[in-house]
Amino acid sequence: MKTFRVITRSGRDFNVEYNDSDNIMVALYDSFKGEPWGDCGGSCICATCHVEVVEGYSTTPNEDEEDQLVYTSNRTDRSRLGCQCELDGIPDKSLVVKVNHID
Ligand code: FES
Repeated sequence: MKTFRVITRSGRDFNVEYNDSDNIMVALYDSFKGEPWGDCGGSCICATCHVEVVEGYSTTPNEDEEDQLVYTSNRTDRSRLGCQCELDGIPDKSLVVKVNHID
């Protein structure tokens, strides 16, 4: 099982396991139970899966993400929606994301 690193607003810093068939939102779903996370189930219409890519992934959102990211707080030029970021082929321990709307 591969892992990537996650840092939340309060500085909680942990590694999460993922499969190649996951996307970032799915991989973090159990970690953020009870939080505003993945509310639309990956349909790209809620933006609760907003992450900031620190390293290890493209920072260019697709057109559907762009339509949602305009409504997010804490948006940066490295913002992505986790449900649109497939993890297939991402090397173990290469990805780091911040989740600025969750403590
Ligand atoms: S889960 Fe709703 S936009 Fe990603």
